[in-house]
Amino acid sequence: MAARTLASHGLLPRIRVGFEKVRRWRSRGASLGPRQLVQTMRLQRRVVGGGRVYVSGRAAVRLRQGARIEIPSGGRLMLGSGGSNDVMDADRLRAAVYLGSGARLVVDGRARLGYGTKIRVAPGATLTIGDGVYVNARCLIIASHDVTIGAGSLLGWDCQVQDDSFHQIRRTDGSWPPVKRPTVIGEHCWLGSGVLVLAGVTIGSGSVAGARSVVSRDVPERTLVAGAPAAPVRGEIEWRV
Ligand SMILES: CC(C)(COP(=O)(O)OP(=O)(O)OC[C@H]1O[C@@H](n2cnc3c(N)ncnc32)[C@H](O)[C@@H]1OP(=O)(O)O)[C@@H](O)C(=O)NCCC(=O)NCCS
Repeated sequence: MAARTLASHGLLPRIRVGFEKVRRWRSRGASLGPRQLVQTMRLQRRVVGGGRVYVSGRAAVRLRQGARIEIPSGGRLMLGSGGSNDVMDADRLRAAVYLGSGARLVVDGRARLGYGTKIRVAPGATLTIGDGVYVNARCLIIASHDVTIGAGSLLGWDCQVQDDSFHQIRRTDGSWPPVKRPTVIGEHCWLGSGVLVLAGVTIGSGSVAGARSVVSRDVPERTLVAGAPAAPVRGEIEWRV
């Protein structure tokens, strides 16, 4: 479109504002492509609290009415980032965030979600992610009610965390157990690759779940669990990146 046509459509000022925003994002250290920049700017409008969102890889984001991303000032959520593990992006999977109406995604600091990781927060539900959390590639987090991932926790690739069993099985006493129960991963926990954390589970801070574990019961603090169902292997552990 010629400059005169652009001007007559009132587009030039808007494009100028757009470029100015791009310049500011870049000056903040974001190395985003044009597509990510547009997505980032669009999503930023839905953030409450002064924090920032970066769509750093491929990502699909859908926020229904009244859904909010809450990030306090100084906090940051990076969507679709790969860290040093670029091989996970070989199949170009999109990260996806879906927040149902009135859902909340709270990021209490700086957090990263890897390539292909999907997050679904149901209407009215809350997902809280602490400072320094890294959710690696291809994970799935389903919050139908309340999921918390504590500060400094690390999820290996292909993990699944959920607070909902979706369907019920009647107990022998005739009662129907609840399907939605809060799931809590404490601070500084490490889930090896392919770990499944079921509804209602609390994993104590400092604990580790070995690769492919199915964590169906609470885990005490600083405990290594492994297997399906995950059972304690040792206590009083320390782990580091
Ligand atoms: C969690 C982990 C690091 C523990 O390693 P470790 O401290 O060296 O533990 P050990 O190898 O001494 O194993 C202790 C016991 O637990 C068992 N165990 C360990 N990991 C297991 C697993 N994922 N599933 C089932 N059992 C497991 C071992 O067989 C061993 O049992 P034994 O005492 O009867 O022989 C390791 O098991 C693991 O899962 N590694 C993969 C981590 C990963 O996925 N990284 C990539 C994503 S971040």
